[in-house]
Formats: sequence, C-alpha cells, structure tokens
Amino acid sequence: MKLSDPRILAALPQLGVECIGGASLAERTSLGIGGITDLLLIRRHDALPDLIVLLRDAGVAYKFLGGGTNLLVRDGELPWVVLQLAHQEPQVRLEGNSAHVYAAADLGRTVTFCAKNDLGGMEGLIGVPGTVGGALRMNAGAYGTQIGSYVRGVELYRAAEARIETLREKEISFEYRHTSFAPDDIMLAVKLELPSKPYREILQGIRICNEKRRSSQPLNQKSAGCIFKNPPGGSAGRIIDELGLKGFCVGDARVSDRHANFFVNAGRATCADMLRLIVQVRERVHAAYGAELENEVILWTE
Ligand code: EPU
Repeated sequence: MKLSDPRILAALPQLGVECIGGASLAERTSLGIGGITDLLLIRRHDALPDLIVLLRDAGVAYKFLGGGTNLLVRDGELPWVVLQLAHQEPQVRLEGNSAHVYAAADLGRTVTFCAKNDLGGMEGLIGVPGTVGGALRMNAGAYGTQIGSYVRGVELYRAAEARIETLREKEISFEYRHTSFAPDDIMLAVKLELPSKPYREILQGIRICNEKRRSSQPLNQKSAGCIFKNPPGGSAGRIIDELGLKGFCVGDARVSDRHANFFVNAGRATCADMLRLIVQVRERVHAAYGAELENEVILWTE
C-alpha cells in the first residue's frame, strides 16, 4: 500500500515518524518471503497513539512488525502499511537486578549485555532470533527458559484503550508460546528481573545452548523457526520426521533435513508455496495421528 493521504503525510514528520516507501517485507523477515508496502518507522513511542488515530480515521489498515523472525507474509502489493519501532538508546538500562529493555532491542544482544553485567537466567534464549518485543508477545522459550518468567512489568500500547499503559507482572499471563496480550497490543518496553550470576558461568550455559542449537536446527537457512507449536507432551518435529517428511517440498518451500519443524525457504519460495506446505504437512499429521498441529508462525496472508 502506498500512503497518499495528504493529512497523514503532513503529520508524519511532526510525530517523528519516517516513511520508507515501497519497503520489501521479504528483506525484513527471516523467511525472506513477503510483498511490498510503505513502512512507518516510529522514533518516539509517545507518538504511537496519535499515529494510530490518524491511520484509523483515514481508513488505512496497518500491521505491526517486530523482528520478522516468526512471520509468514503474503506476496505482491500488501493491502496494509507496516509500523515498526526504531531502536532507542540505550536499548538496555540496568538497575540492580532489573533490566529495562526497549521492545525493539535484539533479544540475543540483550541476553549477552545482561550476561556481561553478571545477570543470568536467560541463557537458553541466546539463539532465539528477533526482538525483545516479539519474544514477549509469544513468550519465546528454549532449553527450559521462557522470557515470561523474568518479566516484572510491560509498557505497551493498548489498542482497546488507544493509549500507552504499564502492566504489572500480576496482570499478564504467560503460557507455552502464548500470552494474555491482545493481538493488536504493541509492546514498547519491559522490565525484567534477572538472577545474579558470574559472567563466566553464564557464558558456559550460553555455549552449551548454542552448541545444541547448531547441531539440531538449520541456522544457516532462511526459516521462521518452528512452524508448529508442540502438541501437549510431544514434539511436532519428531512427529513430522517420523512420517518421513524431511526434504518434502512445495516449490522452494521445504521441510528442513535437519529439523522437521523448521520449514525453510530454499531459494525463491513464495508465500503460497509455504502455505501449501504447511497445509499438506498438517493434513499428513492429522491423517496419521488424528492430531491437529497449531501454527506457531504468525500469518499475514489475508
Ligand atoms: N526430533 C526428531 N526429528 C526432528 C526434530 C526433532 O526426532 O526433525 C526429536 C529430537 O531428537 C528430540 C525431540 O524431537 O528428541 C525434541 O526436539 P528438539 O529438542 O529440537 O525440540 P523441539 O521440541 O523440536 C523446541 C522448541 C524450539 C526450541 C527447542 C529447544 C517448539 C515448537 N520448539 O523444539 O523453539 O529451540 O525446543 O528448546 O516449542 C521455536 O519456537 O521456533 C523454536 C525453534
């Protein structure tokens, strides 16, 4: 979508919002799939309520992009604009055992920065790609760690109230790859409380997780991480593997040879290829086990 409403275009500079015209979502997602639209880069969080009112009043549909690492986006000219938070400095501010982190901060860098300051707990999250905001929304987890365990408060734009609010830990529920945030809430910043640990000890934990990840996941290929959530007590990857589906393709969308719950873009996969692959694998699993796998990947495919 190309923004053309003169009222919006005139207001953007006053709100500190930069418009990147004709932005490619294929270049901004880890799957390397997605069409073209205008991207609005938000430099001041407090401008968000006004920006969203402006877009709504003008009937401009929008979506909010985090790190784009757990996302499948449709091809072609996209029917909505995309909003994204610009980096704020410093991305992480420490105060005792608390880390105040902006949502646009890279998760891995945040884990490393905290580690260097002798704050641990998040070692398992080191190789999870994406932003802290995206990790919060999904309650990202790996190797027994989930980010939600360390959250003490979240600053967010609440779409229902059209304003910025701060929620305390008690007001948020974090479950396996699920949180109580509304789909259109926008994460702005988080306060984490992390246990003190010597850097050397944290580093050892980080190395172990990195090694496990390197040996079991296709890190050098374009993917969105795991496509499906694990069914209760099971592993989607093992189930798909047992059905002999590693290497199964639709166009250039392919079930990874290394980990069967990673679907990779092995070249010029389209969104339609990837969607067909998801549907076919889900059907095969359903036919064999009677179980319906739930998507972990977020779809912007309508
Ligand atoms: N397995 C196979 N074949 C495969 C993949 C896995 O047999 O192709 C077996 C493994 O050998 C192991 C079991 O299945 O015995 C579980 O595999 P793994 O340890 O790789 O964990 P997972 O359940 O497949 C989850 C998360 C990952 C996270 C890892 C490590 C989900 C959907 N996935 O994978 O998270 O990195 O544990 O903690 O919960 C993600 O969410 O995008 C993601 C990559």
